[in-house]
Amino acid sequence: MIEFNDVSLVYPNGHQGLKDVNVTIEDGEFVVIVGLSGAGKSTFIRSINRLVTPTAGELKVGGDNILNYKSKGLRDLRTKVGMIFQSYNLVKRNSVFRNVLAGRLGHTGTVRSVFNFFSKEDKALAYESLKRVNIDEKIYSRADQLSGGQQQRVSIARVLTQKPNYILADEPVASLDPPTSHQVMKYLRRINKEDNITTIVNLHFIDMAMEYADRIIGMRSGEVVFDGPVSEVSEATFEEIYGRSIREDDLRGGAEDGEQHQ
Ligand SMILES: Nc1ncnc2c1ncn2[C@@H]1O[C@H](COP(=O)(O)OP(=O)(O)OP(=O)(O)O)[C@@H](O)[C@H]1O
Ligand SMILES: [Mg+2]
Repeated sequence: MIEFNDVSLVYPNGHQGLKDVNVTIEDGEFVVIVGLSGAGKSTFIRSINRLVTPTAGELKVGGDNILNYKSKGLRDLRTKVGMIFQSYNLVKRNSVFRNVLAGRLGHTGTVRSVFNFFSKEDKALAYESLKRVNIDEKIYSRADQLSGGQQQRVSIARVLTQKPNYILADEPVASLDPPTSHQVMKYLRRINKEDNITTIVNLHFIDMAMEYADRIIGMRSGEVVFDGPVSEVSEATFEEIYGRSIREDDLRGGAEDGEQHQ
């Protein structure tokens, strides 16, 4: 469970990134955060693995207030919480396999990995994870030889190899074309359901939010202004969250088949 109790975050320059946020996310939920640019979506997500640190309130992950964590606590937290980025964050010159094995770093320790001391189990898990996102045939390719959609699948495989309890994804499809975006969202959704990993995704596109979320949280100016199941969300809800009418570029479109697996 993730619990925000009166969480606020003021950046060093005085800008308030989060204002009195109260949100509880149960284990296994698939939550999509929406809001205009600057609304605080990344700040919300990045608070959960302490890439940024709220300045007031209490933020519990698995029952523990993570705002007190120092180095060891933070390392353990980041092993439990996997992260997927818009820009994939792969090591470009490394092989796909090596990138996916990096998901074990929090478990094995950096020194072991430097000397390639990954166990047979770790390697089997990395391969299994690549298979789950249908990219196992690229195992020995260099990461930078892959398309954007393929790289994002590798980054999902890396998170799977990490065996996290939570997955955070900050605009995971913002750099992808519409069909590939849907493919990536389908993998995230499938993993959430099959492995019961709590998943929180920031998205700009309201049609995708509606298609994949169980629950939508709307943010504006650092505040949660909507929180409810998809069944309670209408176009008017988005207009309220955005403070303006919905436009064409708020929609991703293109739910047809994704990029070919190759
Ligand atoms: N390190 C920082 N220092 C100061 N202000 C920041 C910092 N990071 C973010 N902000 C500000 O906090 C607000 C929320 O930023 P955040 O990145 O969380 O928004 P977002 O909803 O993710 O936006 P986008 O959709 O553009 O990614 C913005 O006004 C932003 O300018
Ligand atoms: Mg953001």
